[in-house]
Amino acid sequence: MHEATLRDRVAALLAASDRSNVPPFMVMDVMSAAERIEAAGGHVIHMEVGQPAAPAPTTAIAAARAALEGGRIDYTSALGIASLRERIAAHYSDTYGCAVDPGRIVVTTGSSGAFILAFLAMFEPRDRVAVTVPGYPPYRHILTALGCEPVLIETSFETRHALTGEALLAAHRKAPLRGVLVGSPANPTGTMMSRQALTHLIEAAQSTGVRFISDEIYHGLDYGFPAVTAAELSEQALVINSFSKYFCMTGWRVGWMVVPEPLLRPIERLQQNLAISVPTLSQIAAEAAFDGREEMEAIKRGYLENRRILIEGLPKAGLTKFLPADGAFYLYADVSDFTSDSFEFAKQMLKEAHVAATPGVDFDPFRGKNFVRFSYARSADDMREAVARIARWLG
Ligand SMILES: Cc1ncc(COP(=O)(O)O)c(C=O)c1O
Repeated sequence: MHEATLRDRVAALLAASDRSNVPPFMVMDVMSAAERIEAAGGHVIHMEVGQPAAPAPTTAIAAARAALEGGRIDYTSALGIASLRERIAAHYSDTYGCAVDPGRIVVTTGSSGAFILAFLAMFEPRDRVAVTVPGYPPYRHILTALGCEPVLIETSFETRHALTGEALLAAHRKAPLRGVLVGSPANPTGTMMSRQALTHLIEAAQSTGVRFISDEIYHGLDYGFPAVTAAELSEQALVINSFSKYFCMTGWRVGWMVVPEPLLRPIERLQQNLAISVPTLSQIAAEAAFDGREEMEAIKRGYLENRRILIEGLPKAGLTKFLPADGAFYLYADVSDFTSDSFEFAKQMLKEAHVAATPGVDFDPFRGKNFVRFSYARSADDMREAVARIARWLG
């Protein structure tokens, strides 16, 4: 066979599907550049990564150790270990005063695993699902990979970057939506929805048959006012949460959903087939994590202090415009006074000031070039040093 033809045939055999063609996460490029600086002996302040610097609660680690000593780590039931599901249900009454049937809790492989199960159970290919911009990029990329159409709705400062019922209904009138997903506290903005805003949005969605998903992964990390769970407002809402952020358990890959009753069995069947069950050791650790709340509250107080250092320090350093830092551990700063290309801005800040942050273009294809996201999940000393370096760099 002719060499070129053979090459073409091999290329065709190995070609990736169109649906796998999702964009990369640009923060990864920033992380690689930071690694190169560190390899050359530089000291980078890491404010690009959205993960806690602290380890899992000691209670979780001890439980995992004890389970390992026990020897066998078996599959669990697809919906998760019963005692963990009960403990998660108890968390809703302890934290929000809201009764949730443990039978509606599904343990998942982080909230990332929950998105896949939820989207598969709720939507058909080509269904239109609204997500906000700025927003967490995998929402739209997972939807795309599953053949759904993410519908990007821009939010604004005026509504604390919350999606309003009016904006949702306007998008629905243009072309019908099947679902909507919102997160509060939000990534990358760090803003939160008030009880009233969340209530109105859920009512608007449900009045037109739009299915509602609430990503509550940053619950527990609320500073301005208490976060409200959609589980309290509607039994038809699907709630997603995770042990990754408040409980500092990113690498354990364990999260959960509160599922509307009719979706429970379909989700169980999907989980049985896609994953069998969530890693058992992580489930055991997660259950014990609830006993480590005191430790986690101390870490949260650290974030609060970091937030104070940035809110006071960044304006003095020259970054005067940022969104209300209501929750999570992000501060989303408007850098349009300095650049119209936040990717270049982040690159230069890393190269010259050795402060790593994430350009907004990852989160917002429209106006992200004006914004940079700072994560404040590390130490207070790091925050003070970052402010000083940015001040020197911009000054
Ligand atoms: C808003 C949001 N949702 C979900 C996730 C995924 O987290 P995990 O799969 O670790 O639970 C992240 C991670 O950064 C996030 O920021």
